[in-house]
Amino acid sequence: MVEITLPKNSRVKEGKVWPKPEGATNLREYKIYRWSPDDEENPRVDTYYIDMDDCGPMVLDGLIYIKNKIDPTLTFRRSCREGICGSCAMNIDGTNTLACTKGMDEVAQDAVKIYPLPHMPVVKDLVPDLSVPYAQLSSIEPWLQTITPEPATEWKQSHEDRTKLDGLYECILCFCCQTSCPSYWWNGERYLGPAVLLQAYRWLIDSRDEKTGERLDNLEDPFRLYRCHTIMNCTQACPKGLNPAKAIANIKKMMVERRV
Ligand code: SF4
Ligand code: SF4
Ligand code: FES
Repeated sequence: MVEITLPKNSRVKEGKVWPKPEGATNLREYKIYRWSPDDEENPRVDTYYIDMDDCGPMVLDGLIYIKNKIDPTLTFRRSCREGICGSCAMNIDGTNTLACTKGMDEVAQDAVKIYPLPHMPVVKDLVPDLSVPYAQLSSIEPWLQTITPEPATEWKQSHEDRTKLDGLYECILCFCCQTSCPSYWWNGERYLGPAVLLQAYRWLIDSRDEKTGERLDNLEDPFRLYRCHTIMNCTQACPKGLNPAKAIANIKKMMVERRV
């Protein structure tokens, strides 16, 4: 676990301490990164207090409490509230994860510290700009591609071939792995990153897909694939328990195998 303490010369300042909810006796402190492009001010970290007797147990419940009852300007993404849509990914207590599946009781420190996903441009508060990773995802053409004429009913797949997609199809594109990868931090414009490469592998090993060669050609590049140095931060970060580092290693293996 990483504890973030702002250095004295940080441009992120301690911000406003919002009043405690009236009459509340069971409080939880939140410290949240705030920045708006409209303010023309440096980022700050605001302090809020949640009434735990009037709030659900997850970190996202606390954010919704703050937005509904204390500060409606606080901005974050969320949709499903059950770890399916991937939109509530953020850095909580020093780790990239999903706010809706992270319990407040899993955060050991007194305050729940929340920042946007690291090393991405910020749109506002906890909302990162994901344009680059989405463009990268588009570049690997993540859909079934075939050459043979479409069958009358459906593309069939054996049970054995279907199980090869386990551990890949579950990816919710939250980008927790992508933004925890040091190689992606330094080469984010050119290295595709673990989330996108996991998707690339998902289509490479789909028995129905007939563009394997073209897909490998598209990845055969010193930056797009080979910037992965097997540091494994991605696998540790994945809130769905997936293993992007293994998927990347499998792509590298496919590259070698097609040469021999
Ligand atoms: S294993 Fe590769 S993709 Fe995963 S964090 Fe390390 S460098 Fe990044
Ligand atoms: S591999 Fe895991 S962390 Fe990465 S985008 Fe998919 S679900 Fe999120
Ligand atoms: S709100 Fe959908 S994954 Fe958290």
